Amino acid sequence: MTHPILIVGAGIAGLWTALKAAPHPVVLLTGSTLGDGSSTGWAQGGVAAALGPDDSAALHARDTVMAGAGLVDETAAMVLASAGASEVRALYDIGAGFERKKTGGWSLSREAAHSVARVARMKGDQAGAGILAALITAVREADHIEIRDGWRAEALLPDQARGCAGVLARDPEGRLHPIEASHTVLATGSIGGLYAVTTTPWTSQGQAMVMAAQLGAVIRDPEFVQFHPTAIDIGRDPAPLATEALRGEGAVLIDRNGHRFMPDVHELAELAPRDVVARAVHAQNLSGAGAYLDAREAVGAAFPDHFPAVFAACMSGGVDPRTDPIPVAPAAHYHMGGVETDLDGFTGVPGLWAVGECASTGVHGANRLASNSLLEGLVFGHRAADAIRRAPSRTVKTGEAKTPPALPHSALQTLRANISAHAGVIRDAEGLSALSTLIHALEAEHGAAPALVAARFLTQGALAREESRGGHSRTDFPHTAPRGGHTRLKLADLYPAQAKLRQAGAA
Ligand code: SIN
Repeated sequence: MTHPILIVGAGIAGLWTALKAAPHPVVLLTGSTLGDGSSTGWAQGGVAAALGPDDSAALHARDTVMAGAGLVDETAAMVLASAGASEVRALYDIGAGFERKKTGGWSLSREAAHSVARVARMKGDQAGAGILAALITAVREADHIEIRDGWRAEALLPDQARGCAGVLARDPEGRLHPIEASHTVLATGSIGGLYAVTTTPWTSQGQAMVMAAQLGAVIRDPEFVQFHPTAIDIGRDPAPLATEALRGEGAVLIDRNGHRFMPDVHELAELAPRDVVARAVHAQNLSGAGAYLDAREAVGAAFPDHFPAVFAACMSGGVDPRTDPIPVAPAAHYHMGGVETDLDGFTGVPGLWAVGECASTGVHGANRLASNSLLEGLVFGHRAADAIRRAPSRTVKTGEAKTPPALPHSALQTLRANISAHAGVIRDAEGLSALSTLIHALEAEHGAAPALVAARFLTQGALAREESRGGHSRTDFPHTAPRGGHTRLKLADLYPAQAKLRQAGAA
């Protein structure tokens, strides 16, 4: 290859892709210092994989399909589940300290909508931090990887042959540089930062969707956002998480009078699918009855040792989870939609790939199964690296890229508040239309900043989906359509008038 492989983003998917791309030279861009600014380090539950004696890839795939509310690509689910055990072992081999039993087997947690205990964990809630630390050590030791800390991708460089030629990136001093690459891999994570209440870094604002769409990629199902039911409600932005593993250990959800409300909502009670629990918690808070995660009996005095991250977060907000129920609220947690790719992460734009949360491989459908996200980063990152190594060499002829306008902080905060209010756990046409009007007004004032374009994808997808399914719940369309379909949007669908003008100019 004449140019390196360029990877944008340094969470689990970006780092694993970089490692697996060896021996090809890789340039890895991370907008902050390596280890900061990605959701991976904050993940608590662990990695779902068929590792137990009572489990199989087929069963894991079946649970993934069931959780996804009719829109999971079954081949993708089987690809994910079949590779799960070997990817966890590979991570363990590079130093990720998953808990093992004295007998040698894996210590596994059970999370919502899994038929069996299947989540490989580290010290209760330390999986993300432990995995990230192991990956960073491996990446720093790898000779084929050049890490550029604090380099932010602003736009993709178009290739004159309608492909991608790399990125236009800003260095830590604010200078712009075109970086050419034969293959560019987007691994920029979530859109959670578009929400006022989120468990993801606020800098995660759907950048991959916007950059990829500018080169013609399709954005699939942007409306499908997963809300985690138990973010700790202590007024922090981003909101700390109280892992689902706590409910797996027996913690229950109660109102302010101590009444346990989930058994009235679903037969699986606290372990019902995540969207069901999120809506119930949202309804409790709206009604004023309150929602609290009560782990006093299930965990109690063992909290500091068994769930150190949750314990520290609670204590920082003045809640002692050994003696007090934890106030909780749903928060934007995961984006099922994103840049449409095949099962190797290829976007359809020559030279452009997407992996991890920013990609839509079809594996999550309308609702991701808990703890499938870290696994997705491993499996599809590995597959993308393999496919890129097999791909014919590309020589790029770089065209011009423009830096997008920036959105002032106050406008971003207005956008985030309105997205939480109108494209949150519960949606309807009136709220989504008001949100759309606001986005247009902000765009007229500040230009098409990436956060606004990403918000347009989300809102347009949510308005178009006139049904309720998985993470997308419309009060004006409460039923699930008999046949589910995917939303597929291109940039021209967001700006039809401009697209018409361009067409007329070309004719
Ligand atoms: C959790 O620990 O509850 C989050 C796990 C996930 O989002 O998959």
